[in-house]
Formats: sequence, C-alpha cells, structure tokens
Amino acid sequence: MEILYTSLSIFVILITFLYFFYFLVYIRNAFRKLPFVPIKKADMKRVTEIAGAREGDILYDLGSGDGRMLIEFAKKGLRCTGFELSAFYVALTNLKVRIRGLKNCRAEKKDMFEADISDADIVYFYLTQDFTMMFEERLYKTLKKGTKVITYVFPIDGLTPKKMIDIDGKRKVFLYEV
Ligand SMILES: C[S@@+](CC[C@H](N)C(=O)[O-])C[C@H]1O[C@@H](n2cnc3c(N)ncnc32)[C@H](O)[C@@H]1O
Repeated sequence: MEILYTSLSIFVILITFLYFFYFLVYIRNAFRKLPFVPIKKADMKRVTEIAGAREGDILYDLGSGDGRMLIEFAKKGLRCTGFELSAFYVALTNLKVRIRGLKNCRAEKKDMFEADISDADIVYFYLTQDFTMMFEERLYKTLKKGTKVITYVFPIDGLTPKKMIDIDGKRKVFLYEV
C-alpha cells in the first residue's frame, strides 16, 4: 500500500512539474513579438482542404508552434518541415511525430527568415499581419512558380487570394499561388 502511495505521489509531482514547466514556456513565449497562438483544431481541416495537396508534396510551416498543423498535413502523406524558434515547441512537435510513427515530418529550431524554402510545393503560416507583410516580398522572390501559399486569419495585403474560406467573419483561410 505504501509503495502505491509513494508511486502515486511521484506521478502527481511529475505531472504538476510538467504543467508548471509548460506554463512557464507559454508565458515566456507570450512576450515575444510573435507569440505561440495555435490554429483552432476545428479549423485545421479547412486548411488541408484549401491546399488541395497531393501525397509527396513538400510543405513548410513557418513558425510551426506545437506542430499540430504540420502533423495534420503529414497524416495526408506530405513531406513536412516546420521551422520554429522555441526549442520547447520543436521538441514537443518531434515527440508527437515519434509517438505517431510519422516518418515524413519534422520540426527544426530555426528562424523562419533564414530557412531555405525554395523547393516548397506548399507554404503555410499563421503569423501576425506585420510578419505576414515581411514575408510577402521574400516569398515571391524565393518560391518557384505554382507554389501554394496558405495563410490563416491574416491575408497578404495587396495580393488577391485564389481562394478564401470565411469560417466566422474573423477566422479566414487564404490560398495564394506564386
Ligand atoms: C501564431 S503561432 C502559429 C503556430 C502554428 N503554425 C499553428 O498554425 O498553429 C506562431 C509561431 O511562430 C513562432 N515564431 C516566432 N518568430 C519566429 C521566427 N522568427 N522563426 C520561427 N518561428 C517563429 C512562435 O514561437 C510561434 O510558435
């Protein structure tokens, strides 16, 4: 009985510690210019729908956070790489990838502005309006013709999307083609 109580106490302490650690990472991240705010789970299907992706397509998620969208694409057979600044979210993504046994998906700790995405078939990002605009010029200089660019919530000002899904007036998914 004593062993059971001891094991239970260790388990509870461990879980509490993990939650506390996760909370600290979340708070630290919240003060960044571009904090971790994940896409709503209910909207992920709309993003994969609009992409019209084919198995084997190369996809990059710029600022991949906890990897939820990356993994959603990988489950459809795309070759997915996420670039993320937070080492914690990179580790969390790669742990989830391993647990799911996905071989076509990984996150890298890298500044998205330094990542080579020139071979992309699809680029997805959920950034702030400012960050989205910082990317506009670069995207169109770097990417090959026909590459699909998907943004969530924030459009790329000055460009006309090829398709748009309006989820609730505020949350929208935009598809652009280079
Ligand atoms: C709004 S979240 C989007 C997360 C994920 N793409 C999604 O759709 O759920 C933006 C992410 O970008 C990351 N980030 C901020 N600046 C970055 C940079 N320069 N390079 C890579 N990642 C960055 C943040 O840590 C955060 O996780």
